[in-house]
Amino acid sequence: MRPDAIYAICGFNDIPSRKAMGFNLIAVDDHGNHRPWSIIVVRWGKKVLGYANKCPHNGVNLDWERNEFLDPCGIRLMCGKHGSTFELGTGRCVEGPCQGSALTPIALAVLDGDICVLGERLVEEDASLDH
Ligand code: FES
Repeated sequence: MRPDAIYAICGFNDIPSRKAMGFNLIAVDDHGNHRPWSIIVVRWGKKVLGYANKCPHNGVNLDWERNEFLDPCGIRLMCGKHGSTFELGTGRCVEGPCQGSALTPIALAVLDGDICVLGERLVEEDASLDH
């Protein structure tokens, strides 16, 4: 966790309210190593919530169809592999094979109209802007 790191990943209005979108980012660890880091961003009205795109059951991405993260009612996140569902506000699995465990939360903020990831060092899309 890097308290000073802030990276904008998309505009707030790029995600409609009550929708979730996936982002495949590249994180940089303290040794400078890069690793793929896939996250889910949920927008609910003025709120944004972030979770690692990794099911606590088998460690797979939740969206088996790209950007299909929500259950048929559109009120919980759902894993496409075995159908576990997760509370939007907490990431807690409320039904399915990993019931009781939870998605890993990711700190997000809306700054100047952009949704930003806080506290993680990421590779910029333009690699020449490496911090
Ligand atoms: S891998 Fe997600 S519910 Fe099994």
